[in-house]
Amino acid sequence: MDTETTLNASSMKSAGDPGDPCAMVIFGASGDLTKRKLIPSLYNLAKDNLLAKDFALIGFARDEMSTEQWRDKLTHEAQQFATTKVDEELWHWFIRRVYYMSGDFGDPASYQKLKGMLADADKEHGTKGNYFYYLATAPGFFSKVVHQLGDSGLVEQENGVWRRVIIEKPFGRDFDSAKALNADIQKVLDEHQIYRIDHYLGKETVQNILAFRFANGIFEPIWNRRYIDHIQITASETVGVEQRGGYYETSGTLRDMLPNHLFQLVTLTAMEPPVSFDANILRDEQAKILKAIQPMHEEDVLTRAIRGQYGPGKGMAGYRAEPMVSPVSRTETYVGLKLFVDNWRWADVPFYIRSGKRMAQRVTEIVIQFKRPPLLLFRKTAVEKLEPNRLILHLQPDEGISLSFGAKVPGPIVQLGDVNMSFNYEDYFKAAPQTGYERLMYDCMLGDATLFQRSDMVEAAWHVVAPILDVWGALEPRRFPNYAAGSWGPEEADEMLTKDHRHWINPAPLTRDSHAAPAGA
Ligand code: BG6
Repeated sequence: MDTETTLNASSMKSAGDPGDPCAMVIFGASGDLTKRKLIPSLYNLAKDNLLAKDFALIGFARDEMSTEQWRDKLTHEAQQFATTKVDEELWHWFIRRVYYMSGDFGDPASYQKLKGMLADADKEHGTKGNYFYYLATAPGFFSKVVHQLGDSGLVEQENGVWRRVIIEKPFGRDFDSAKALNADIQKVLDEHQIYRIDHYLGKETVQNILAFRFANGIFEPIWNRRYIDHIQITASETVGVEQRGGYYETSGTLRDMLPNHLFQLVTLTAMEPPVSFDANILRDEQAKILKAIQPMHEEDVLTRAIRGQYGPGKGMAGYRAEPMVSPVSRTETYVGLKLFVDNWRWADVPFYIRSGKRMAQRVTEIVIQFKRPPLLLFRKTAVEKLEPNRLILHLQPDEGISLSFGAKVPGPIVQLGDVNMSFNYEDYFKAAPQTGYERLMYDCMLGDATLFQRSDMVEAAWHVVAPILDVWGALEPRRFPNYAAGSWGPEEADEMLTKDHRHWINPAPLTRDSHAAPAGA
């Protein structure tokens, strides 16, 4: 275990000290991620006193621009993308430590220039030689940038300084390429310097899965195959591929959403309680789940991996008519899977997972469906409609938890009805809106990699989807498009559950508690 993450493990802290003095470099700084997420997050950290006073930021991109021009651009964009009202004084403080350099990701001279700017930042802003690099570039540049950083001596951790690299997704496009990328960047960086980001782990509601499961005594005893019938995880979007047709054609939903975001949700839902929140101990438990997912054989792929592509519907164009998409594209925009986690806790409990674009509703949620009780007792009563208990973790856009159970309908006849008990975050915790990247960048500044992907996890996740990629690559989809834009996905995905005498639980809005106590009451 590396000492760095152990010493700095800061997971589950509620409020903390500012991050270490440091300089951040964003590669690909002129892209969308910088203006939409990274700058607003840094500003929010500054507002919450979690950004060191000794901080500097250098944007590195190919576009020709001066520091002054970049500062003006960011100031203008902050009005649109900041999650809270921008305080002029604080913004002024922040923007004075922001610099820009135009450079070529593959050119050693650009890195010499960067080295000079970082040395200046150390002098001007007291950043103490601690640097972290955010690779917000196209994936094809990840290796190149890491090697150039290595060659220019910018990742060496001597004399007590730290150097870290955050790498955006997608990390590889299959098992072999992910393994090769890991091996390649590990020639330059130690594993503890690599922070593979998955923005789902920055979401409060996703982090809360751990708190919910392990900070409460009542759920863990029933969180297993004895009491749970099955689990459903849905991440549906109403948007189509928008302007990302070019990328999506090379990716598809399986690569885009499954081995990263949705598998994070699977691991957090299924993992054993870790003995501490130390980065490696927690990730060991997550990795065990990924390794316990049964690999699919070819015939499993045909029955347990459903792919879909949206056609026109509800006034919206079909995928094949989107910009930069082939008119005969066989890229999937929907995936529905049935997986099994083959360990003592979960053997034979299906995990149904689905994700898609242009679906009926935007929602991310986890449904834990419990086994039915023996209903003999109610045989002579009107109970045929009684639904099994369901615990639903609403991750977005609703944020909360609900539990459904049966109750007696008042009256002289024994009748049972379903009732719902729910909790909504907003009603209880009055937190300012965030981008979801704050915690991840803050943790990186502290050297806490708990919420980042380790190399073995990335490889294990690709290993699970590898047979699906192989079969889908080799076989034409039977009928594409196979679901209408604005619907709940292809019929085949419904049939997969019907065969098991189950059905997808389509999301209902979380009910609000008008009597909720204010936070801290
Ligand atoms: C990204 C995918 O990683 O996650 C997108 O590339 C997807 O295709 C997005 O839309 C979903 O994230 P969120 O936070 O909106 O659920």
